[in-house]
Amino acid sequence: MMRFLLFLASLALATAEDGSKAWLRYARVAQANSTSSLPASIIALNTTKSSPVYTAGQELAKGIQGIFGKRLPISNGTAKTSSIIVGTAAAYEREFGNSSHFSDLKEDGFWLSIDVESVRIIGQNERGALYGAFEYLSHIAQGRLGGTSFISNPNSPIRWVNEWDNLDGTIERGYAGPSIFFKNGVVVDDLTRVAEYARLLASIKINGIIINNVNAKAELLNSTNIEGLARIADVMRPFGVQVGISLNFASPQSFGLKTFDPLDTSVISWWNNVTNQIYSRVPDMAGYLVKANSEGQPGPLTYNRTLADGANMFAKVAKPHGGIVMFRAFVYDNHLNESHWKDDRANAAVEFFKDLDGKFDDNVVVQIKYGAIDFQVREPVSPLFAHLPNSNTAIELQVTQEYLGQQAHLVYLAPMWKETLEFDMRVDSKPSKVQDIISGQRFKRPLGGSAAVVNVGTDTNWLGHHLALSNLYAYGRLAWNPSEDAKEILQDWISLTFSQDQKVIDTITKMSLLSWPAYENYTGNLGIQTLTDITGNHFGPNPRAMDNNGWGQWTRADSLSIGMDRTVSNGTGNAGQYPKEIAEMYENIETTPEDLLLWFHHVPYTQKLKSGKTVIQHFYDSHYAGAETAASFVPMWESLKGKLDEQRYNDVLFRQIYQAGHAVVWRDAINNFYHNLSSIEDEQKRVGRHPWRIEAEGMQLSGGYVPVHIEPPEAGSNSTAIAILATNSTASTGSVTTTVPFESGTYDIGIQYFDISSGRASWSISLNNQTVGQWIGNLEDKLGKAAADSMNGHTSTRITFLGVKVQKGDMLRVTGKGDGKEGAGLDYVVFLPKGKMVID
Ligand code: GCU
Repeated sequence: MMRFLLFLASLALATAEDGSKAWLRYARVAQANSTSSLPASIIALNTTKSSPVYTAGQELAKGIQGIFGKRLPISNGTAKTSSIIVGTAAAYEREFGNSSHFSDLKEDGFWLSIDVESVRIIGQNERGALYGAFEYLSHIAQGRLGGTSFISNPNSPIRWVNEWDNLDGTIERGYAGPSIFFKNGVVVDDLTRVAEYARLLASIKINGIIINNVNAKAELLNSTNIEGLARIADVMRPFGVQVGISLNFASPQSFGLKTFDPLDTSVISWWNNVTNQIYSRVPDMAGYLVKANSEGQPGPLTYNRTLADGANMFAKVAKPHGGIVMFRAFVYDNHLNESHWKDDRANAAVEFFKDLDGKFDDNVVVQIKYGAIDFQVREPVSPLFAHLPNSNTAIELQVTQEYLGQQAHLVYLAPMWKETLEFDMRVDSKPSKVQDIISGQRFKRPLGGSAAVVNVGTDTNWLGHHLALSNLYAYGRLAWNPSEDAKEILQDWISLTFSQDQKVIDTITKMSLLSWPAYENYTGNLGIQTLTDITGNHFGPNPRAMDNNGWGQWTRADSLSIGMDRTVSNGTGNAGQYPKEIAEMYENIETTPEDLLLWFHHVPYTQKLKSGKTVIQHFYDSHYAGAETAASFVPMWESLKGKLDEQRYNDVLFRQIYQAGHAVVWRDAINNFYHNLSSIEDEQKRVGRHPWRIEAEGMQLSGGYVPVHIEPPEAGSNSTAIAILATNSTASTGSVTTTVPFESGTYDIGIQYFDISSGRASWSISLNNQTVGQWIGNLEDKLGKAAADSMNGHTSTRITFLGVKVQKGDMLRVTGKGDGKEGAGLDYVVFLPKGKMVID
């Protein structure tokens, strides 16, 4: 019996779905029941273990075993029929004679031909062959077993990811646990996860990775870490992923030189030395990424050298090794003065870079964030893309959802990226889509492409939220071919990651496609940016934090009006940085797309939109609509119960419930803020009125609970909550009571509480001394999002108990027990009458 149970347990483990395999699950496919149409063997035309072709052979065997349940033998033999042959075009022709199929292959491209008993996967290079193998597996894993034959070539040569990992193991803007690369100042010993990550990246045709934070430390260049870098490169090489590093511009000084002037010969020879050392250990290193003179980072401007001087210094030392220098255009002054009407951070990139066009060496690529400022929920395309016809460029995207919910919120980003990539800049009044500029096609540049900040961590499922993996997958697909459709990409991902069940595909598609518009609706619309804590963790709402600081993400909101005037005629002139046709569109309020209205124009709250609504009413309505959509994700997800494995079903459900609650925090904070500022009533009389809430501070307080003013005030209902402040004394518990004033009936009871990062307080709620529910403040363990240590818009959280029978006059009690700094903070209890669609 025991043995039988153990056997069952091991079966369960073998099929457990923890998200670690992402879209490479190779689950058995119904259509693949018969193996008769399967070739009999795999022939991989390279037996060297570090070769991507060898990897391809192994991967094919593994994938086919999962999908068809049959282990195919792998050889490097010469059988021609009934085989899957994978290799480079050159190796294939050596072995089997010339073929006419390969002449159109570009670097990293492949030819895939699937016939009943003969599958041919031929890469222009080894990497291309591996990509072709993954493509074939993706086909059959989705049950596409029919014959086909096609060539696939990349849109651009640079398809990189950036990881903002620090040497101490933390990750800047990472939301899925600590680093898989570094710990305690050095590269970790066990690189298993790094190899698994390389496999994921190869499967979406990513060919380069920068492994450390753009805010780089010189210590990365010590000899121990160079050895570590070599180890990382060794485990990623079999997957065709080339490794690169971010550099600290002042490194020479950290290692004892008097200067880091890029034109100083001692500095140049220092970099030359280091570069030679690194390449002697990692001969195929991808290159360097450099953030200079930005947000306090050192750079060439310190010595009155140009940014191009700085970039070219690296380019020259990397060139003999075939290295590339990605030089970031994210350069701006973070001490701007808002009282100057014409100061504008959005102008910075063009101001710093346009005169440098043509001055960069040919192995420099200027890496430009997609928007003019910084990864906001909506931004116009960076005008810089139009100003560098004589330079190589790449676009920088973010998979890690820094300003977009930090993986605690579902936001499918591909539709946003598509808008950027397809945006036509009309340079010289000619078609100039961003995707054609970065690919090098528009300006006939040899290099270019994209980089996405991903920030995977040690969390089993890589990014924290299982559904966030669609963004990594989509990034790879779009980097290879930006013309692909965001919905089709998504559906391939769902089918590979979860199931081919139509209901599963339809539901996750619906949720995902609604998610970006919803997030935009409840975090800041009309182009006002994500209204978050600009100087802090960029997670929860804090609209007042946008202004009155030097960071330049201003809204210029006052009691009458809002928005940045970026016109040439009256504002910062930013609209004029775009090519003529685009500049005219943004200059004129009538032709500016409404979703960018407040990015380009300063208007009264009463300004009418095309819908006939005023700006302020649009704000109110959108925030309600967005929060409602977020709430609707919960039942949508619940409709999949039984169709998905339990672990991932529960993990996602937990995050969707969290998002639904946090969207209400966003909605209320932003609406209250502008309601107070403008004194304009919500036509629907929702803002500032919450008839179904019982404020905690209005209840009978006992034990350690005292009223606490919330900062920013709009992040707390009525600006006030309660908490137990002396959590390590006898007063570490407290409770609040009141009688239920609502009519008897069935209610969903929501409790708005504060879950801060230090401490694990606990709460319980009862009606007439019957426990309704209890919970612990442990989101720091469960969400992995950036820590916030006080009661505010980042930490305000909702838990809801569904369908509770309530009698008018029942005694409601919430009891809290503080833990350390976490004082079991409580904002309000809301009673939502079941089935009445009441929003409060
Ligand atoms: C954002 C982000 C920083 C990061 C910077 C960059 O401002 O908040 O953490 O260092 O971008 O891209 O360099």
